[in-house]
Formats: sequence, structure tokens, C-alpha cells
Amino acid sequence: MNRELFQNAFEKGMRITENHLKDFEGGFPAPASEHNRYPKIENNDWTAGFYTGILWMCYEYSGKEVFRQWAEKQLESFRYRIDHRVVVDHHDMGFIYSLSCVAAYKITGNEFAKETALLAADNLKSRFREKGQFIQAWGELDTSDNYRLIIDCLLNLPILYWATEVTGDPSYRKCAEKHLETTRKVIYRPDYSTYHTYYFDLETGKSAYGATKQGYSNESTWSRGQAWGVYGLMLNYMYNKIDSIPDEWHKVTDYFLAHLPEDKAAYWDFHFMDGPEPRDSSASAIAVCGILEAYKQGVCGESYLEKAYEILESLAKNYAAPENEEVNGILLHSTYGRLLGDGIDECCLWGDYFYMEALMRVLREDWKPYW
Ligand code: GLY
Repeated sequence: MNRELFQNAFEKGMRITENHLKDFEGGFPAPASEHNRYPKIENNDWTAGFYTGILWMCYEYSGKEVFRQWAEKQLESFRYRIDHRVVVDHHDMGFIYSLSCVAAYKITGNEFAKETALLAADNLKSRFREKGQFIQAWGELDTSDNYRLIIDCLLNLPILYWATEVTGDPSYRKCAEKHLETTRKVIYRPDYSTYHTYYFDLETGKSAYGATKQGYSNESTWSRGQAWGVYGLMLNYMYNKIDSIPDEWHKVTDYFLAHLPEDKAAYWDFHFMDGPEPRDSSASAIAVCGILEAYKQGVCGESYLEKAYEILESLAKNYAAPENEEVNGILLHSTYGRLLGDGIDECCLWGDYFYMEALMRVLREDWKPYW
């Protein structure tokens, strides 16, 4: 592996973060940049935790107090958010609270952060629907147009396993395992491409049909959804060691790898394999984290590790943001919602986070994930 390249890439991301701290004073970057510059928003979107997670990684890597201070300053806003139910009627409790509050607890033993993350885990657990055995992704509970799960939620399950570990209450883990089991039953097509979301019948709880929200079509494969599968399966395996996950992981991951273009940065949907459609570099960064975790767990061999390095090398060489006054993101050319007209060919906060996590993982083999 090209250690020097990866080290320079992480340190560049860290400098960008430090040089632009003031851009987000008292707030957070928006989910996606505008012309590669993130506006500042309040703690009210599903992406806030990615920023705090980047700050924690910069702190762990460099030991610089400034990163810890900024991360700790943000914890109060995460508590306010869950206490006052500011945009929390959805499943994204893990994205928001694992990388901010669970991270704070794991790194510094902060009890306030632990309590805050447990409140978020309670909120997530309350979205579990008995009819269908799944965590409802979005919106008002028990309404037929919202009665679905989404593949992204696999990354929100670790906070539930963690909650069982720290409280001894098995109900969190049970909820995660049931949701995982249901997801694995419905989300794959025969070739191990994935649906983005899957609906259930509100009256009977029977699985109904797959649909997309951010992909090209219901039958195409949204590349970030597939990447959520690659990493999500491994984050669950990290906690539950279910025997049948590794085989499935290989199929989902092979599908992802087989649909990358030559430079390894995924198109936003695998319906596109070349041409002018925008990329979603974040999908590639997420998948790299999944492969690195799989290697660490002994689920895959060296050949996958080499592929992960190859993707990460391309991101570092061709997709990393420049350092200047204007650009305050880290990874260029991600796409939030192509057909929704949202964050197209921009920096996306989770793209920055997973790119930095991937680099952290390769540079510090003993780094402990915040998930
Ligand atoms: N989890 C939302 C997204 O990937 O856009």
C-alpha cells in the first residue's frame, strides 16, 4: 500500500478541517456543498454526526486539543436535539449519534455523551414495527406510504448493539438482529444487487415490493445503497458474528466491485457504467471501509484488501479536494440525490467522513471504530 499517499491525504483532510473550523462555528456543515463549499446549518439533518466524527478522528490522529474542544462543544447540541425531538422521527440515530456521542464516550469516557447516545438508541428502538419486524425508516409511524425499511439503516444498528453492551438490556440487540434478519430476507435481488427500500403491508406485515428513493429506478441499483450493504453487513458482523453473513457479504461486495468504472469511483447509480453522468465518490469510500473491516474480521483475503487500496488510491489522487479559502470539503464528486436535484457532483459530508475513516483505518491498524 502507498502509505505516503494515504498519510498525505489524511493530513490534507485534517488541515482543511482545521482551516475551516470557523465556517461552522455554532453549527454544522450542510449535507452537501454548493460549488464545493458547505453552508452552515443547525443540528437538524441526518449528517451532523459525520462532522463531529471527522473532528474526533483528527483529534485521535494528531492529539491536537483544538479538535477535541470543537467536538466536545457540539455534544450539547446533540443532547438538545434528542431531548427536544428536533428532526428525529427517522432511523438515522446511528449516523448522528454513533459518530458524535458514542465516539466521545469511547475516546474520553464522557458519561453525558453516553446518556445522550442511549436516548438516541431508545428513539431508534421505538421505530421497530412488530408487523413486518423492521425499523421504519422515515416519517409518521404506521402509515402505509411510510411503511418501509431501507438498506442504509444497516449502519444505524451498531448503536443498538452498543446500547446492549453498556446497559446489559438485551432489547436493543434483539431489535437490531430482527431488523437485520428482515433486511437480509427482502433487500437482495437474485444477483445480489440491492433494492434501496422495501415496503411492507401495513395490515398484515407481509413484505410487499422494493422501491428506490435516491436511485435511478426501482429495478436499478443505487450505488450508495449497495455500498451501505457492503459496510453495513460488516458492522453488524462485527457485533453479532452471524455465520451466514460472510458468504452474503462476498456476493454483495463482488457486485459492487464489478460495477465500478475504470478509475473506481462509482457512478451515482450502477445503471451507468460510463459517460457524463455524475459520480458518487462517497459510495466508493463507504465500500472501502466495509472491505477494510471485512479483512480485519478475517472475512476476506488479501485480494480484497488490494482492491480497497486501489479504490482509496484513486480517491486520494483524483477526487481529493484542493486546499484553499473557498473549498471547505474534503472529497469531491459525490452525489446526494441525482434525480431529486440535490447535491449533484459536490462534496457530501458522509463522503468526507468515510474517506477519512478509510484513511484512518489504513494508517492506524489499531484504530477502534466509533460504530
Ligand atoms: N442515508 C441517506 C443517504 O445515503 O443519502
